[in-house]
Amino acid sequence: TLVRREDYLAPAYWIRTADLTFDLDATKTIVSSKLAIERNSALPVQPLRLHGEDLNLLRVLVDGQSVSFRHEDGLLVIDAPAADAFTLEIRNTISPEKNTQLSGLYASGSGLFTQCEAEGFRRITYFLDRPDVMAVYTVTLRGDAKKYPVLLSNGNLVEQGTLDGGKHFAKWHDPFPKPSYLFAVVAADLVAREQWVRTRSGKEHLLQVYVTRGELDKTEHAMNSLIASIVWDEARFKLPLDLERFMIVAVPDFNMGAMENKGLNLFNTKYVLASPATATDVDFDGIESVVAHEYFHNWTGNRVTCRDWFQLSLKEGLTVFRDQEFSMDMAGSPSARAVCRIGDVRALRERQFPEDAGPMAHPVRPDAYQAIDNFYTATVYEKGAEVVRMMNTLVGREGFAAGMALYFERHDGQAVTCDDFAQAMADANPASALAQHLGSFKRWYAQAGTPRLNARGNWNAEAATYTLTLSQQLPDTPGQSGKQPQLVPVALGLLSREGQALPLQLQGEDAPQGTERVLVLTEAEQSFTFIGIGAEVVPSLLRNFSAPVVLDDGLTDADLLVLLAHDSDAFNRWEAGQRLALNRIKAALGHGEAVQLDAPFVEAMRSLLREPGLDPAFKDLALTLPSEIYVAEQISDVDPQRLHTVREAMLDQLATALQADWAWAWDEHQVQGGYRPDAEQSGRRALANKALAMLVRAAALSGEPVWPGKAYQRFKDATNMTDRLGALEALVGAHHELAQPALERFYALFRHEPLVLDKWFMLQARAPEKNGQVFAQVKALLKHPDFTLGNPNRARALLFVLAASNPAAFHRTDAAGYVLWADKVIEMDAINPQLASRFARSLDRWRNLAEPYRSAAREAIARVAAKAELSSDTREIIERALQD
Ligand code: ARG
Ligand code: ZN
Repeated sequence: TLVRREDYLAPAYWIRTADLTFDLDATKTIVSSKLAIERNSALPVQPLRLHGEDLNLLRVLVDGQSVSFRHEDGLLVIDAPAADAFTLEIRNTISPEKNTQLSGLYASGSGLFTQCEAEGFRRITYFLDRPDVMAVYTVTLRGDAKKYPVLLSNGNLVEQGTLDGGKHFAKWHDPFPKPSYLFAVVAADLVAREQWVRTRSGKEHLLQVYVTRGELDKTEHAMNSLIASIVWDEARFKLPLDLERFMIVAVPDFNMGAMENKGLNLFNTKYVLASPATATDVDFDGIESVVAHEYFHNWTGNRVTCRDWFQLSLKEGLTVFRDQEFSMDMAGSPSARAVCRIGDVRALRERQFPEDAGPMAHPVRPDAYQAIDNFYTATVYEKGAEVVRMMNTLVGREGFAAGMALYFERHDGQAVTCDDFAQAMADANPASALAQHLGSFKRWYAQAGTPRLNARGNWNAEAATYTLTLSQQLPDTPGQSGKQPQLVPVALGLLSREGQALPLQLQGEDAPQGTERVLVLTEAEQSFTFIGIGAEVVPSLLRNFSAPVVLDDGLTDADLLVLLAHDSDAFNRWEAGQRLALNRIKAALGHGEAVQLDAPFVEAMRSLLREPGLDPAFKDLALTLPSEIYVAEQISDVDPQRLHTVREAMLDQLATALQADWAWAWDEHQVQGGYRPDAEQSGRRALANKALAMLVRAAALSGEPVWPGKAYQRFKDATNMTDRLGALEALVGAHHELAQPALERFYALFRHEPLVLDKWFMLQARAPEKNGQVFAQVKALLKHPDFTLGNPNRARALLFVLAASNPAAFHRTDAAGYVLWADKVIEMDAINPQLASRFARSLDRWRNLAEPYRSAAREAIARVAAKAELSSDTREIIERALQD
């Protein structure tokens, strides 16, 4: 059934307090709930309808008396209770070990854990499981003292003790009223790293990171990230830690990255555990950003929450923006910030732009859903963060902080909407373009699709003016057409052809206002005239990616080479290089011949690689060709095989043409001293590893044995996982004969480290396809004793990586990839619908494929659609994929 945003109704009842008792057991847990309920006097008297799913109901009492009830449309209905306020007592059982969906209370390893967002609480007990019903929880946990020595829930520990029969108990009280999706319980055999911190207020707080025995030495980075997050939120937004105790618990089986339950964050182990020997620089970064993200939710999400799930971006877009800003501040230097920004934009373009162009396109604030779990998307998260970032651009850093302050002043303790946030930002900045054009800005929340921004400049030599005409157009998306213009902030600079930044003075202004500024486009088309422009210029538009749009600025390769060499905006320097590369890939695809890289491009790449003083991390990004996923979005009738061939040939040429430069880069960027996962060291490692991969690639082409030998040596001797994996990937990526022995050795070393084993699977699934070997290897690995669909990380490492990140291995002319996809969607759906529906989305863009891929993909999707017993999660994705 479809839930619509416009159908929102306030709840007919409020739940003020929830007293829960859990008799914990993996096979059968007894949940006893005592709820203080009040009728919402603003609404007519009506039955109490409670959500519940997969529950075994034992009894229902109202004010101590048994009452009649019925089950209707999956709800427990109690006909109009007599009093306006009453106590409801419910007892039910659940089976955590049978809960393979990992939503509600489930078993992972030997412990029990919960995941309640979005609608998992109803799988624990009957409740008004919606975010605008907020209650104060008191939770008593009882369980076997040996199996579950640690018993945790939200808030403060108020009592604990032993019970008969080898059991013990713990009682927790959370003073903050919260929606049920923020509820959490943990019962497991865990150990914790602990740290006391004193915040500015002078209060002491206990921080804990809980993991399985033996993993404590991998929790230092998570703890440091947590402390840094606390300090940052207080410094940047004056938002203090409001809890006496803040706990993080690592869970091996977890559907998502992590969950911000009040005071008790639950994390995928992947985003907690790290040591230099087992985690890469990318993993360390991921931990820092996810720890921060969940911590920041304590204010943006928990103190102020969402009125309904259509408002999900209220907390997610804002919190992603906050964690991105945090990561940039942690990275430090301007170039390290730019590297973060480039990473975020790459992710947006590779995941959100395809979403906006495909069957699942939806606004940042969706209008309807069948399964809310399908809307934890790149659009709600990453595009939502871009919308918040545009506000920040429009009102400035101080203005944004003022808007945040007003938002909390108005809404602390409430469940609100995206409109409330935008209104607070505008009201705190009444003179801003945001406030003046709030209606047009808010269309970003309502309209799906990626805007096309067209920009054309015209230099008038006589008048010495440069007129820039900007226009925007928003494509139709499923169910939405005839869209209105949105406010688009366009940050820009103008460069002379020699690369000088020019002063920017618009007609009507008395003086130039710097060399960079933000134009605000609010109409379908507007022109802006700059004066005092005595020669041809090269515009540098959409600096730092100031709006999530596709830009067509008509720049020539000659223009792009100027930007690549001279732009003061690091993002646009990088972008110019990407566009030069893209132009060459497109040309080769167009004329059906092999790429022959031209000297200007190769020389530009060489001088970038050699440029003194340029950040190695930036060089690594600038010398990375646009991915096949990204290129596929820039063209239609995609032939993934042909695209792969073209891109690989281009890589071969860059490897060979720059061989001496890669060798220099390798030598020059070796890291001395102890391992630190900071921006400086990780940038050097990234560039050195890229150089090694290119050198092994060139060697594989010429049969030269030295560099592969060096790579194998590095693989064996590396003292950290980044270098070890980098060397292994260089061999695997070149299909070198040393790859196999290295893979075997890696497995033997790490077979007992699940997160490292995930890398071993992933590495093989994302290797560049060659004669179908990679696909064959993935099929073989599906039968490996360490492979299982029951663990989401493992399933993602092999299957998601194949289908979503390795187009040439997945999209085959014999359709074997699609057959595998359909089989696995169906198999996964019976175990874990959330995971299956995510996996199903790897065929979202099937309509953009050329034949024979397109028809074969459609057939596979239709085969899944024909299954009678699909979950509503997967059904929604499959139906949308087939909709015309
Ligand atoms: N709120 C969590 C986060 O962003 C994600 C929870 C996702 N849950 C889900 N069922 N999709 O940090
Ligand atoms: Zn979040």
